[in-house]
Amino acid sequence: MSNLIKPRDGILSISRYKGGKGSQAIGALKLSSNESPLGPSDRAIKAYIDSAKSLSIYPDGNSTLLKEKIAELHNINVNNIICGAGSDEILNLIAAAYLMPGDEVIFSEHAFLLYKIITLANNGTPIAAKEDGLKANIDNIISCVTKKTKIVFIANPNNPTGSYLNKNELYELRDRLPESVLLVIDGAYAEYAQEEDYIDGKSLISDAVNTVMTRTFSKVYALAALRIGWAYAPSHIIETLNKIRGPFNLSTAAINAGAAALDDQDHVKKSVDFNTEEKVNLLEEYREIMIPTTGGAANFLLLDLTNIDFIGFMGDQEIAENMNKYLIHNNIYVRNVVDYGLSCHLRITIGKREQNNFVLEKIREYMRQGGFP
Ligand SMILES: Cc1ncc(COP(=O)(O)O)c(C=O)c1O
Repeated sequence: MSNLIKPRDGILSISRYKGGKGSQAIGALKLSSNESPLGPSDRAIKAYIDSAKSLSIYPDGNSTLLKEKIAELHNINVNNIICGAGSDEILNLIAAAYLMPGDEVIFSEHAFLLYKIITLANNGTPIAAKEDGLKANIDNIISCVTKKTKIVFIANPNNPTGSYLNKNELYELRDRLPESVLLVIDGAYAEYAQEEDYIDGKSLISDAVNTVMTRTFSKVYALAALRIGWAYAPSHIIETLNKIRGPFNLSTAAINAGAAALDDQDHVKKSVDFNTEEKVNLLEEYREIMIPTTGGAANFLLLDLTNIDFIGFMGDQEIAENMNKYLIHNNIYVRNVVDYGLSCHLRITIGKREQNNFVLEKIREYMRQGGFP
């Protein structure tokens, strides 16, 4: 028998997360990771560069400046905030802090893949609740609840479907969950959701209720490389997560650039408005070429190639694969979402105007040609 050290059982069954693909080739267009086409605020870039002056000094382990700015912008108590190296660190901390072996974790069928990974990594049991038209379904989530349920993760809007639970639905979900179950509302794309009935979930958080909202600087703030995320949660949860996080989990550059980015809400508005405008145009264009899109509350569109009937000789899944191949052939990298159980779909980040037009041109070309030989 081998004496090689073995990880926990759950870890053995994890399929490693694969991020969106790109290429180093000249002119390659990467629209596979929902990054912001407008880039970060100039103020954030300046703060990042200025941080070089203090490279020999440990960062502020409490991320005080960043937390204060977040508290001010969102009008929430600074003591109920924790910062992380990306929101994925916070999601990981939550799973690590609360899951006991065999605890069940519920998320919707096509939810962000990390939820399953962190559940398995902590010896929990992942439970996927059926969706309804690629949208989380509250009845189905509730029907998955058992005595072993510990956490429900809901990305709102969800990646990769782009769908969201509206204000009433979010409150209904919280009301119908046992109070002992932790509800984690992942608002990575919250800023982009401009729909009137959308809320980011802040109003659900109180010390009396087990609810957490996580957010990121990787999307609308365009600081993905710096790894900055945060959560707003009841005091008992903040206290717990602070005990197990790395003592200096955010770099000085991340703290300072994040804080400076928060100071530039004009840039955030510009990025959101740009995304909304492009999205409206793109939805119209896809309607015209008869490719259905779903969701759309974030900064990407999910193309539904299930019933595209112009290429009779191909199966639905083959069309998604084949179209993806054609896009790659043209140096365009979008997200194949097979890992999400969506083999007939492609997720495409909303990029700059000329980038979006180029993608559309190639998809039109693909349709006219009737596939890619
Ligand atoms: C729904 C969702 N949550 C969380 C994250 C993690 O973001 P980050 O770790 O960059 O903050 C992502 C990244 O794509 C996401 O799509």
